Amino acid sequence: MSDQLKYGNVSSQQAIEMEERYGAHNYHPLPVVLAKGEGVYLWDPEGNKYFDFLSAYSAVNQGHCHPKIIKALTDQAQTLCLTSRAFYNNKLGSYEKYITEYFGYDMLLPMNSGAEAVETALKLARKWGYKVKGIAPDSAILVFCEGNFHGRTIAVVSASTDPDCYDGFGPFVPGIAKIPYNDAAALSEFLEQHGKNVAGFIVEPIQGEAGVHVPDEGYLKACYDLCKKHNVLFIADEVQTGLARTGKLLACDYENIRPDVLVLGKALSGGVLPISAVLADKDIMLTIKPGQHGSTFGGFPLACSVAIAALEVLKEENLAEKAFTLGEYFRNELRKISHPMLKLVRGKGLLNAIVVEPKDGVEAWDVCLLLKEKGLLCKPTHRHIIRLAPPLVITKEQLDECVGIIKSVFDQL
Ligand SMILES: Cc1ncc(COP(=O)(O)O)c(C=O)c1O
Repeated sequence: MSDQLKYGNVSSQQAIEMEERYGAHNYHPLPVVLAKGEGVYLWDPEGNKYFDFLSAYSAVNQGHCHPKIIKALTDQAQTLCLTSRAFYNNKLGSYEKYITEYFGYDMLLPMNSGAEAVETALKLARKWGYKVKGIAPDSAILVFCEGNFHGRTIAVVSASTDPDCYDGFGPFVPGIAKIPYNDAAALSEFLEQHGKNVAGFIVEPIQGEAGVHVPDEGYLKACYDLCKKHNVLFIADEVQTGLARTGKLLACDYENIRPDVLVLGKALSGGVLPISAVLADKDIMLTIKPGQHGSTFGGFPLACSVAIAALEVLKEENLAEKAFTLGEYFRNELRKISHPMLKLVRGKGLLNAIVVEPKDGVEAWDVCLLLKEKGLLCKPTHRHIIRLAPPLVITKEQLDECVGIIKSVFDQL
């Protein structure tokens, strides 16, 4: 590795030292510093080039620094960035019209991070539960799945079953139930007993952070039908699975279900700004009145322009179809790798994972380090799972090159 700087004026080593010294230690990054991105590629300050196989946890579906999205960003940034919602702005209405038509909902509630959008959906469900369903005051229940990941707020970690997420952050928010994932019978049983008080059931169509767990076919539809039977809102957290990542615009599209409340984030900006969204119909959305929920930045003009461009790119470049086709191909190629440490390949579209059996002290983390040395960046989730999720703009030739890198790392092990 050359020590000469190609990008910026901070070396990899300096960047790491400063983060360690001045930043909270709430992440455990792979030891690589990124200074530039374009499409599927990233570069470190010294000019080493990498394939991005994480896509910022699926926020960069459209590829790094997509020219159309960056143009929307820079044009809008020079015109008007933020007004707050104390006033109308001339971008929000057009964006709301665009995104609601795009996904087929009556209304949008714009937020910023994924966790905030999840919080919004939960608040909306509670409000709807009291105002429309008629649940007695303060007794609404929200049903979550074990193994979920919906973000880091207190309400959301109250629903987590991962000690890393919740340990030391109690006391937790009441009115939360946790049932096994991929188990419609468990939901049925819970709703038979408590359905009267349940406002919403929130589910990831594929559990991303848990390790790309793809539920059985029919699971989501069965849960949706149960929610209808018990007058419970079906809330889909598509923050990671949505926006073409899994080979359809939404992962729920695989089962032809239309969530009552749809939560989006990450790739809604193509990785340019934190932009999230909650979509629902009027009977649900209008239960929240002026002054009852919001965010200073939610729906800011810069976000509106960027989100429209990011959504346009998904359609113009057929990214859902691409993810579907390349995903099938990728999993087939990975399954040809025969190695005792490579236990399983799973996923949908370009949201994939390999399960690695630790051997002689070599764990998923070490595999990621070796992949990095060969120019491919990905990150373990838990100790034995490696998520493989490149930007959806990747070409078949680039994917072939990456399969070659992955093969060569397993050959080396
Ligand atoms: C399914 C899901 N929901 C919510 C979130 C939280 O999003 P954010 O990190 O933008 O708050 C994530 C983040 O990984 C996620 O995967």
